[in-house]
Amino acid sequence: MDNDAERVEALRNGKAPFYEPYLQELLEANNGGGKLVFTTELADAVKHAEVIFLCVGTPPLPDGEADLSTVERVSRQIATLSDGYTLVVEKSTVPVLTGTRIHATMQTYSRGRDGVEFEVASNPEFLSEGTAVQDYLFPDRIVIGVESKRAESLLREVYAPIVEQSFTWRPKPTVNRPPPRPMLMTNRSTAEIIKHASNSFLATKISYINMVARLCDEVGADVAQVAEGMGLDRRIGPHFLNSGIGFGGFCFPKDLQAFVAMAERSRCDFGLLKKVEAVNQQCVAEFITKVKKELWVLKGKRIGVWGLAFKANTDDMRFSPAAAVVEGLLEEGAEIRAYDPCAMDEARKELPQIEYADSAETAAADCDALVILTEWPEFRKVDLMSLREKMLRPLILDGRNLLDPKALRDLGFEYVSIGRP
Ligand code: UGA
Repeated sequence: MDNDAERVEALRNGKAPFYEPYLQELLEANNGGGKLVFTTELADAVKHAEVIFLCVGTPPLPDGEADLSTVERVSRQIATLSDGYTLVVEKSTVPVLTGTRIHATMQTYSRGRDGVEFEVASNPEFLSEGTAVQDYLFPDRIVIGVESKRAESLLREVYAPIVEQSFTWRPKPTVNRPPPRPMLMTNRSTAEIIKHASNSFLATKISYINMVARLCDEVGADVAQVAEGMGLDRRIGPHFLNSGIGFGGFCFPKDLQAFVAMAERSRCDFGLLKKVEAVNQQCVAEFITKVKKELWVLKGKRIGVWGLAFKANTDDMRFSPAAAVVEGLLEEGAEIRAYDPCAMDEARKELPQIEYADSAETAAADCDALVILTEWPEFRKVDLMSLREKMLRPLILDGRNLLDPKALRDLGFEYVSIGRP
């Protein structure tokens, strides 16, 4: 159920509402036959449901706290509509103790109707945009926070096809992932904290390596090799140590703020995470400084941009560090011509004032510099020899450390990246 009628209509017609690898195929494989039904009517969705997943948005409020007004409203509505037993499962990323609030709200608004019974479980989602379908079907872990055996066994039943890997539709080409680990059963508050603590920890890893990259820039060391050397230690691991223009998207920036705000309410000053956020905000400014150092004056300079989405394999522009860099360059008077393989329709809404190119090559043609802002793998395949000839000045500033510095210099480019000599 969704109250966005346009979205529901598109889904009924088998059209995924945004770009996500494999989502369209998964939808086509299950749509029709009554197995998967879309509605705008909450009552329709609630009346036959034993388990209801709450997947509503929890955007940030101006003070950083999560806005839980939709969670609260939907909980009230479900309470008035359901009869019999209903297990409400929090999927939305919510602060700890939200489950307790949802439960109390439902008790209040069901007004003691006969036979009506509610439980609330927490089942945080760990999928990433760009690999969401694979992350869902082949998860590293499934975390379930429950307060009763009944809720536990219902959710074990719901997830059995994933745990047993017995589902029929599979992404093609086949994705190689290790079998899922057993489900982790916790109480509700613990599951709620696992979600926020995981995202905050990953964000910490990124800010940490971005700070190391700054040091590498100063002393002529190579952050990619530092990350490799660190990541070989199994206790550290190689993932989420890619330095660049910082983290963005609709999860890390807002979840970090919400975790800090929630900790403060419980009298825990999470200064560590405030620093993680501050380091991240500096990344965009530092990159613009690098561009200015190379181009001296930006006013009137033509800059090509590769990548606008907050990361590769998505068209999501929310809190995109790439958009923040573009805005910074525009403020300095630069002229921007951008290309993104997927996010240009979304980008036009946010950045209507820039020019859009129909290919990576065209974006860079006649430019004083090319900046790389999203790590799309296809940018690695561009014919750099012919690109060099098309550019006014063969200068590349790589905000994602996507290309190889030596190869670029051998081809006659001036090449600047993050924390690599
Ligand atoms: C993130 C988490 O990775 C998921 O586990 C979580 O479920 C999700 O948030 C959520 O809470 O819904 P997502 O925001 O889709 O997923 O994207 P990530 O792959 O985590 O990337 C976030 C940002 O960090 C991007 O801007 C990316 O470019 C940046 N990043 C990532 C780096 O700068 N360096 C890295 O090494 C990794």
